[in-house]
Amino acid sequence: MTGAAMGWEEVRSAAREKLLGVCSLCRVCDGRVCAGQVPGMGGVGTGTSAINNYEALRAIKLNLRTLHAATEPELSVTLFGKTLALPVLGAPVAGAKVNFQGRILEWEFTLAQVQGAREAGTLACTGDGAEPEEYAMGLKALQAVGGRGIPVIKPRPAEEILRRIRLAEDAGAVAVGIDVDAAGLMSMRRAGVAVGPLAPDVLTRICSATRLSVIVKGVMTADEARLAYECGAAGIVVSNHGGRVLDYTPGTAEVLPSVAAEVKGKLTLLADGGVRSGVDVLKFLALGADAVLVGRPAAWAAFGGGAEGVRFLYRKLAEELRAAMILTGCPSPAAAGPALLA
Ligand SMILES: Cc1cc2nc3c(=O)[nH]c(=O)nc-3n(C[C@H](O)[C@H](O)[C@H](O)COP(=O)(O)O)c2cc1C
Repeated sequence: MTGAAMGWEEVRSAAREKLLGVCSLCRVCDGRVCAGQVPGMGGVGTGTSAINNYEALRAIKLNLRTLHAATEPELSVTLFGKTLALPVLGAPVAGAKVNFQGRILEWEFTLAQVQGAREAGTLACTGDGAEPEEYAMGLKALQAVGGRGIPVIKPRPAEEILRRIRLAEDAGAVAVGIDVDAAGLMSMRRAGVAVGPLAPDVLTRICSATRLSVIVKGVMTADEARLAYECGAAGIVVSNHGGRVLDYTPGTAEVLPSVAAEVKGKLTLLADGGVRSGVDVLKFLALGADAVLVGRPAAWAAFGGGAEGVRFLYRKLAEELRAAMILTGCPSPAAAGPALLA
């Protein structure tokens, strides 16, 4: 085992103890044991959407090639004007009270996410939820790292989204996101927070009302990817929210190629769902993503080792990605494409 992998196993064991009854940190995180555990760490309903993320990624096979000159692959990417040491960002994960049964403070959790990401040379997104502290703690954590992060806002009424974007601008955020796939979150509605779909004219208005790049998170079809682009989004995340919003969606790796065929090169194309290793990262890049987001593993990392645990995770992913790029003849993230896929 490499140094990073060893450190990572220690982080995982510490997290397993702290998350007893919340997340089993299964050897293979395939969404089965935790199916239906929302709130919690699972996928919604039967858990099929989270399971499909795992299965779709697992089904992708890579061509092994070693007769080439890619001995020192370049891992860095430039997104939204920032150069990241690796094509992996922290996904927004909010709601420590409900999802982690309050075993960590929202503040402590979010700070670990953004600090660990910054120390690894990348950046993390922060989330939003029914509790006012969820968005607020994200912004406060971003400010603690000089704004190096991306707050992701729930699809609230337009004026409220714009108010939150102003706060993100003031916090010096790199970009801002809207997780449109939370449109039907009944937990938000029950808590009195109006969320719902964003009509294209509303999205257009939002995109043109800020100097920040707007990222639409939760796109699962090529037509909506194009629509987001036409509305002025600077980026999208192909995501089904880790399988937590709608039962029976396809895995993200399944839909990414059709989305990439529609918008690759027009906007920043991100994807998430089931990334657990550097090989998974390379698979998403080969399917068309410019970079990926990692959700649950970053949560384990924060529990198991705080900011240092999160840094370990990125270090491990970077080492695995580098090895996979050498073994597939891929000199840089931008060079990853269909030729890598068997
Ligand atoms: C406990 C938990 C909380 C989450 N909170 C948010 C959130 O506030 N906003 C958001 O856009 N996505 C949220 N997500 C979804 C993640 O950002 C991401 O899309 C998903 O976890 C990626 O899949 P992965 O966990 O398999 O890496 C959450 C996911 C989990 C597991």
